[in-house]
Amino acid sequence: MAILEIRKAGDKVLKEPCAAVSKIDRKIRQLLDDMAQTMYHADGVGLAAPQVGVSLRIIVIDAGNGLLELINPVLIEAEGEEKDTEGCLSIPGIYGEVERFSKVVVEGINRNGKKERIVGTGLLARALQHEMDHLEGVLFIDKAQTLCKR
Ligand code: NI
Repeated sequence: MAILEIRKAGDKVLKEPCAAVSKIDRKIRQLLDDMAQTMYHADGVGLAAPQVGVSLRIIVIDAGNGLLELINPVLIEAEGEEKDTEGCLSIPGIYGEVERFSKVVVEGINRNGKKERIVGTGLLARALQHEMDHLEGVLFIDKAQTLCKR
């Protein structure tokens, strides 16, 4: 495993829509391992592949209930709304209030190629939406109503 460099806002890989993963091979599983290690090392709640310079639809999240890995995640259902403070490992020191769905259902595949269905509320719902936005080249500062430095 390796800790990867986290790309910062201004890097164009963060503004590009990512390609779907077509085959889960050893390289993809290695990337999942490295992304998780990088996320934990940076004390983050989630990380998307473009944040480590890879323009593929892969996210990892740990919202306090263990590691979640999702390949090619798709938003299936969404309801409610909730405004809360968000930050991003690619935009250190900046925080903002972002409105998100309060509950989401997301489907993707895991490292074994099996379908995963995640139902998220609270921080997990927020993290899923934040990380999936990264896969479209969207950053939270594009959506935040107010921003502050901390
Ligand atoms: Ni982020």
